[in-house]
Amino acid sequence: MSSSEDQLNQHVPQHVAIIMDGNGRWAKAQGLSRLEGHKQGAKRLRDVIQWALDAGIKQVSLYGFSTENWKRPKLEVAGLMTLLATILPLEISRMQDKDVRFLTLGDTSKFPWLARKALEKAKNATAKNTTMDLILCLNYGGQQEIVDGVRRFCLSWDEAEDKAKTLAELSPEILYSFMQRDGVLPVDLLIRTGGEKRISNFHLWDAAYAELYFSDTNWPAYSRDDLTQALDDYASRERRFGKTSEQVQIEEKVIPEEKSA
Ligand code: IPE
Ligand code: IPE
Ligand code: MG
Repeated sequence: MSSSEDQLNQHVPQHVAIIMDGNGRWAKAQGLSRLEGHKQGAKRLRDVIQWALDAGIKQVSLYGFSTENWKRPKLEVAGLMTLLATILPLEISRMQDKDVRFLTLGDTSKFPWLARKALEKAKNATAKNTTMDLILCLNYGGQQEIVDGVRRFCLSWDEAEDKAKTLAELSPEILYSFMQRDGVLPVDLLIRTGGEKRISNFHLWDAAYAELYFSDTNWPAYSRDDLTQALDDYASRERRFGKTSEQVQIEEKVIPEEKSA
């Protein structure tokens, strides 16, 4: 790979997280039911996998159902669960062909049996794939995930020989290890569709240094062009992680030279 290609790839986010919002508003504007909006939204799943693969992204996480979405009308919640159980099995062979590994985040143990079965099947069938991860976040809440990590830490602290030392040494890295989520990368780019500008409890931990991008397009209408715009915007940003712009610029010059040496 030439050093210019190398530099270009630094500007492709490894982990893109998407808050797929606006299904209901899209449906309302078309005179359709909210569930029809969710159905059209679910169809974008296949597209987004392909666009992300084409862009060289390593991990895509999609917010499908939040811990707060249980507050929605029972019929809508049931419709979303049925949709999951019907759409997911249709995507397995495509994910296999494209070498995509399917994973989930969030506690799906209270989901209906059919939905849980579909999730298990998709995970098992794609477990060995390595080109890209698709992480569907279901009954997911960033706060809940941190609380679960703290709970597990406390249980292990309780059994620690030197409790004072264990507590004094607690660090973000150690707490993270208790969050039990193999292979989830830090979020580089967090996209929210549908025009709202909030995070709604998504990836509170992983998005600590994410670049945020808000798109006005409602999720069912989201296109390859919309994603390209977000990726272009990301590529133009300078990620400093606490350093100064001058430090970052020096590092960007030095690293490609070191690689080609
Ligand atoms: C996002 O679309 C999908 C889910 C939360 C499941 P919404 O259903 O939130 O759509 P709006 O925000 O009402 O338009
Ligand atoms: C966030 O969207 C959750 C998902 C996209 C699954 P919501 O529509 O539920 O978020 P709020 O309630 O508007 O913040
Ligand atoms: Mg919404």
